[in-house]
Amino acid sequence: MARMPRFERHIFICTNQRPGADPRGCCAARGSEKVVEAFKLEMVRRGLKGRMRANKAGCLDNCARGVSVVVYPEGVWYGGVTAEDVAEIVEKHLVGGEPVERLRLRDGEFRAAASGSKA
Ligand code: FES
Repeated sequence: MARMPRFERHIFICTNQRPGADPRGCCAARGSEKVVEAFKLEMVRRGLKGRMRANKAGCLDNCARGVSVVVYPEGVWYGGVTAEDVAEIVEKHLVGGEPVERLRLRDGEFRAAASGSKA
């Protein structure tokens, strides 16, 4: 029998920092710490703390399209997320159940971004 998930939604935000001039860049250089902080603040503001959780993650293998975010249990991927996008993701997706299409990575996009990349 499947166990109930601990959280209604679990959000992982890549905060990987890659030194040097790697052409893929990294999410840390694109402001991922601000995205993490914005998620945490918005969850508190909306009273979601305890029901949902946002965690820092290592490289999610989507470096060229960062800041990378993935939401479970549905497994929806977002790319190019900024702190200014977080309230919309929380409102529409985490609360309303509808992913934010303008930021969403489709299967083909994700594979293209991930191919050949290494953390
Ligand atoms: S550095 Fe963020 S997905 Fe790879």
